[in-house]
Amino acid sequence: MNSPSASPESLPVPLVEDLLTDWLRARFAQTFPDCPDAASAGRVLPSANPEFGDFQCNDAMGLAKALRLPPRAIAEKVVTGAALPGVVARLEIAGPGFINIALEPAFVSERAAAVAADPRSCIPQTGAGRTVVLDYSSPNVAKPMHIGHIRSTIIGAAIDQLHRALGYRVLADNHIGDWGTQFGIIIMGYRHFADPAKLAEAPASELERVYVLSYKRAKDDEAWMDQCRAELVKLQQGDSENRALWKEFIRLSLVEFERVYARLGVRFDLVRGESFYQDALAGVVGRLEAAGLAKESEGATIVDLSADDLGVCIVRKRDGGFNYATTDIATVDSRVTEFAPEKIVYITDERQQLHFKQFFSVCRKLGVAPDSTALGHVWFGLMRLPEGTFSTREGNVIKLE
Ligand code: ARG
Repeated sequence: MNSPSASPESLPVPLVEDLLTDWLRARFAQTFPDCPDAASAGRVLPSANPEFGDFQCNDAMGLAKALRLPPRAIAEKVVTGAALPGVVARLEIAGPGFINIALEPAFVSERAAAVAADPRSCIPQTGAGRTVVLDYSSPNVAKPMHIGHIRSTIIGAAIDQLHRALGYRVLADNHIGDWGTQFGIIIMGYRHFADPAKLAEAPASELERVYVLSYKRAKDDEAWMDQCRAELVKLQQGDSENRALWKEFIRLSLVEFERVYARLGVRFDLVRGESFYQDALAGVVGRLEAAGLAKESEGATIVDLSADDLGVCIVRKRDGGFNYATTDIATVDSRVTEFAPEKIVYITDERQQLHFKQFFSVCRKLGVAPDSTALGHVWFGLMRLPEGTFSTREGNVIKLE
């Protein structure tokens, strides 16, 4: 058995497949020293059919032409007179020239015991010394998680655990939606309609309820809408009362999210919402402009990606506000600088495919994502109701809890 400390990338025990391949490779090379193709023959694969043994090698077939011999004769020459590795119970040549190998049962049970005893189940630690950032679940504040969030959460957690098992340093980041124009509406709703008992019981749900009420009122009450806008501006300008309310909304929402994560057995290393990157957004747009990548268009600032067939990515709106893509570019920049990940993988539903392609492209052009960092989007199908997709505002959401 290999010493586990040999190298971080090595297996605690060698793969039997590799051991058999090494042995057969040497046999092919020794038997046909003048044939260059024989030097690379000998790859052992798991048997297609367990009746024929545990492993097989089909390479005699491919050498028939070069060696001008029937494949069966080639296989026979390779194995005749050879001392079998100790793990082999039986070796047979079958059909046109397959080499079939059955393992020694004692070896198999010994190996099974070693796998069972190894806390890592002999999984190769190919991720040792490497970092991956995973962005999953990422629900929006002041809305309860709905059944659509189960997929991002569970698929993300599965990818997370696979990487951890391979020895990667994983940074699972819950990129919650904690910034946006909805907060003016929520502040008004909270002040006028919030029920403390319900807030204590199901905070995100109660925040959503008051959001919907306030949103509906704003639809046909101009003065209410104006007040919502004013509250938003105050929040954006750092008004201490509105900042405190906004922070409270985040805290309350996380209480409800955490309850769901605890039930699912999901945990995050970081919960850095969109707001975490707000101070970096103007700088990102400035860099895009300085690099000649962003330009003004109808009062907004855009990155034209039509040459890549990706349309136009708006990085600053006409009203001066930044948007989702700008935040995501700043987020990549921050993650790359802080963690130097080999990859950053996002898990969301299918609707965001264009968004990810766009900002990945912008990140590459701007150089915030170096070539050494792969950016990946894992997407999944959307859950739909017979009457269409869910909408918080329409109130037809099925809550995850
Ligand atoms: N909050 C977003 C949503 O609910 C998902 C965020 C995904 N992550 C990201 N970095 N864009 O749709």
